[in-house]
Amino acid sequence: VQVFDNPETASIDVAHKIAQLIKKKSAQGEKVVLGLATGATPVLVYQELIRLHQQEGLSFKNVITFNLDEYYPMQPDAAQSYVHFMKQQLFNHIDIDMNNVHIPDGTLPEDEIAEFCLSYEKKINDAGGLDLQILGIGRTGHIGFNEPGSAPNSGTRLVTLDDLTRRDASRDFGGKDNVPRKAITMGIGTIFKAREIVLMAWNEKKAAIVKKAVEGEISSEVPATYLQLSDQVTFILDKDAASAL
Ligand code: GLP
Repeated sequence: VQVFDNPETASIDVAHKIAQLIKKKSAQGEKVVLGLATGATPVLVYQELIRLHQQEGLSFKNVITFNLDEYYPMQPDAAQSYVHFMKQQLFNHIDIDMNNVHIPDGTLPEDEIAEFCLSYEKKINDAGGLDLQILGIGRTGHIGFNEPGSAPNSGTRLVTLDDLTRRDASRDFGGKDNVPRKAITMGIGTIFKAREIVLMAWNEKKAAIVKKAVEGEISSEVPATYLQLSDQVTFILDKDAASAL
């Protein structure tokens, strides 16, 4: 666990860790495989990465990305889609090859999703596996959209969103009734295969769930507690999110 004074300094630290990884692997002629997250939490990380690209020439030409999740159903051009979010917050401002960008497809007919999820896992493996996965945490203790009840070895799949998650998303959708009931998410098992995992949390609103995730009994009731089982995980917190530890 690392605690920073504020989300800005914490985010800069995470962005610089990502930049180091990109520079190191690019210098060796290797691809870098990043697992990316949405939500408010990683926005400042993406802003710093954009700054590093624009002002210091950091290139994303060797970077392959896999996003954690997408609402289902969801059209990519909808304002609430994670495709839209990632373009706005990061991809439109850097030199990444969009063929190297992967985000779960919220447009598929339901009977094609299982096959899509297997191919998503395969693409991650074929790319060499995730070098680094960044995560936020939902107030249900979800990582990605792995809600309470998710199994530790779960793979990418269609899930049903928790009521609290839908309530937390209601502002983006103009009311809870408009929030999709389902999502496609990487599984806990998928996330765990990453060689390094960084979970970020800011704000007092996250203090209670951060305490459970870091100190609570490991249980499927709070999927983020599974992270206690891995040596590859760092919790990056601001003072407020760490205030109950
Ligand atoms: C969404 C995302 C999660 C994210 C969580 C927290 O549910 N699917 O990946 O971690 O929200 O969101 P925020 O960062 O806005 O608090």
